[in-house]
Amino acid sequence: IHVVTISSEMVPFAKTGGLGDVCGALPVALEASGCRCSAFLPAYRSVLRSGLAIEPTPLTFTIYIAGRHVACRVLKATYPGSNVDVYLIDQPQYFDRDGLYSDRAGEYRDNCERFSFYCRAVVEAIDRLGLEIDIAHCHDWQTGLIPAYIKARRNQYAWMNNVKSVMTIHNLAYQGRFWHLDMPLTGLDWKYFNWEQMEFHGDLNLMKTGIVFADTVTTVSPTYAREITEPELGCGLDSILKGRGPDLVGIVNGVDYTLWDPSTDCHLPQNYSVENWRDGKSVCKAQLQAELGLEVRAEVPLLGIVSRLADQKGWDLIIPLLKDWARSRDVQWAILGTGDPRYEQQLQALAQEHPTRVGVRLEFSEAVAHRIEAACDMFLMPSRYEPCGLNQLYSLKYGSVPVVTSTGGLADTVVDASEENLAKGQATGFRFDEYSQVGLDSALHRAIDVFRHNPSRWGYIVEAGMRDDWSWGQSAKHYKEVYDRVMHREVAC
Ligand code: ADP
Ligand code: GLC
Repeated sequence: IHVVTISSEMVPFAKTGGLGDVCGALPVALEASGCRCSAFLPAYRSVLRSGLAIEPTPLTFTIYIAGRHVACRVLKATYPGSNVDVYLIDQPQYFDRDGLYSDRAGEYRDNCERFSFYCRAVVEAIDRLGLEIDIAHCHDWQTGLIPAYIKARRNQYAWMNNVKSVMTIHNLAYQGRFWHLDMPLTGLDWKYFNWEQMEFHGDLNLMKTGIVFADTVTTVSPTYAREITEPELGCGLDSILKGRGPDLVGIVNGVDYTLWDPSTDCHLPQNYSVENWRDGKSVCKAQLQAELGLEVRAEVPLLGIVSRLADQKGWDLIIPLLKDWARSRDVQWAILGTGDPRYEQQLQALAQEHPTRVGVRLEFSEAVAHRIEAACDMFLMPSRYEPCGLNQLYSLKYGSVPVVTSTGGLADTVVDASEENLAKGQATGFRFDEYSQVGLDSALHRAIDVFRHNPSRWGYIVEAGMRDDWSWGQSAKHYKEVYDRVMHREVAC
């Protein structure tokens, strides 16, 4: 079967978070399991300047949008190390910008126009390239219009006749919600602007559009799949999601171990594996302590965080704890993140006040992210909600014991170090149920206590995590099952 992945991020071309990791790795994993794969991505400035081999194609056309004809050029690359064709939708006015969705001044105000253009151009490009595809796999709101086009325009495009659409929700909190007068940008008839399809409390909602029109819907962990059918995490779309019944499936993301493996990682001062992690990690720890200006000491617990500075990630719990602990506890922090300026200022101030205990980097740096994963003893992810989460999976592989909230993908991938799980040899981290200061505080205490006083138990936990296998093979198999199921269904109108 031929699967086309349509997304707004894809490593190594463009990434702001886990979406990029997943959309880069999934097509390659699907290819390895016997699918034919192609992918679409906007030709952002970062893509064009990435140094990756990109070629022009003869394909150009225009899209009539916002009252004018806007030109589109299609470029092409091959995904490194694979046969996956990556088609890049090039329109400098929309995509030749510093950020993907925003810059320092905030979200781009024309995001609805940019991603409507992108989706409309993808539809056109598939047609003109003559791609014969079976599955259009769309990711997040930026591509939510594609399933709608496939349902609404079957008569116009031959390639749509047998194609089925899959919509994957990576984060339901980001819905691509715009005012109703953006509806004409989509090129779809106003008849679709109703509460059962594209309209949401008077606005246009592109995530909802994708969910409603897709032949099947997936999200990135079984627990999150359940959680989003309830009001607490359903972000107003819970009843629609519940209404999809068995058509909503949770599949945990995999890890691309060609990029995230401490035994081959080129960003580390020393590589290591489960056989020699104590030596390897201690070299990485000392190097990172020096790099961040922390005291270089082996025995002090080093806590790592790599995360967007967004409410989702639990900063309202971390910052007060950090303020308190930086003063009173012999614990070090290595923090990498960008985002909410409020959190950036608070972290900067804490790093200035406690330079030997708190190391902060407010930037987007793959290299530092890898070094923190390798160097720290514990990796902190007290998310308010977490559809899947990749950093806890990287942490497991790097022997950095994750301390996480029991939510979404964190609950599905980290096994708490309870006596019972320890006895079974399954414990890989520390989890807490109650999203609160007390919850986080006590989980961290438990972790630090074992780290300090019970090195052999600590070793069991580290090694169980390092031996876990979260490679893409299993997830790709689940996606293939979803494709198979949906392909054998009649086309619904
Ligand atoms: P989310 O997609 O919600 O941000 P994930 O855990 O799924 O969370 O994925 C985050 C990805 O983004 C990881 O690959 C992580 O290493 C990366 N990342 C986040 N912030 C930074 C940063 N400041 N620098 C480098 N990588 C980052
Ligand atoms: C989103 C989620 C994160 C998930 C990632 C990739 O950004 O916040 O939990 O891992 O998508 O699916």
